[in-house]
Amino acid sequence: MENKIKINAEAFEKLLTIEYYFCLAYKGKGFEVRVRFAEEDFHHLEGNGQLRDLKIHSESGNITFEKALDGFITEEQLEKSLLVKAARSITWGECYMLRLEKINGKNVWDILKLSVNDDQREFVASNEVSIIEAYTTVTNNGYAFPFGIYEDDTLVGFVMIGYDKDDYWDDAPKVADKNYNLWRLMIDKGYQQKGYGRKAIELALEFIRTSPCGKAEYCWLSYEPENKVAKALYESFGFVETGDVDGEELIAVLKL
Ligand SMILES: CC(C)(COP(=O)(O)OP(=O)(O)OC[C@H]1O[C@@H](n2cnc3c(N)ncnc32)[C@H](O)[C@@H]1OP(=O)(O)O)[C@@H](O)C(=O)NCCC(=O)NCCS
Repeated sequence: MENKIKINAEAFEKLLTIEYYFCLAYKGKGFEVRVRFAEEDFHHLEGNGQLRDLKIHSESGNITFEKALDGFITEEQLEKSLLVKAARSITWGECYMLRLEKINGKNVWDILKLSVNDDQREFVASNEVSIIEAYTTVTNNGYAFPFGIYEDDTLVGFVMIGYDKDDYWDDAPKVADKNYNLWRLMIDKGYQQKGYGRKAIELALEFIRTSPCGKAEYCWLSYEPENKVAKALYESFGFVETGDVDGEELIAVLKL
């Protein structure tokens, strides 16, 4: 009967002589990544390190690799472990491509159909209101960048970024001066809690860091005090409350 562990070890042995070298570059920044394998990695890649009810679990990686290569470890031996099923299964994280698409005459109609859960309505203006605000802002010497949030071709949400203030915003908070604003964010009720909100913030910050209206010191935003989900989410990106308010909403800032 073929010894699968030995076959794997022989294939792995070939990797020991190779070093993979990648150069990744994006927007003027470069990274070098070198990947190489050592004998002890076999133990972990095979999942043997998780077989806590077998002796092999506590043996050193180099030794188990040598034993596997010599054919002294078999699948039958490992299958005696009650943990073998879990050790061999890998749970892959969700893999998706999220992107922002500028609002336009075509996608605007679908963006208007997006909505949040009833108990979240107090937390965010409707997309109709946001788009009206974007219009009045840009027609009064201000800046507004409204985007649809897409997973491939599926529209999942809406985000709007602002900069500075327009001619009619009399009671704007001080931080609004010459700074960016993560002005609106909503993920449609049918697509929440799948990681889109977090990824959309990353994309919005990436856009802001291209300085579309010039360099700024801060990105700021505000949320209702009861919006615990938004507060925790923004905090995890490094947003810090300033103690100031915009109407009823708490203001938080992130140094860019
Ligand atoms: C806030 C909002 C944009 C988050 O979008 P989302 O796609 O559901 O968020 P994600 O799936 O990326 O989750 C981000 C984090 O929030 C948590 N979260 C999201 N919804 C949650 C809920 N209903 N209850 C508890 N936690 C929740 C997630 O567990 C995740 O936590 P983690 O990253 O620490 O594991 C979305 O709930 C929403 O549109 N709310 C209504 C509008 C709103 O409040 N906008 C912000 C105004 S300032």
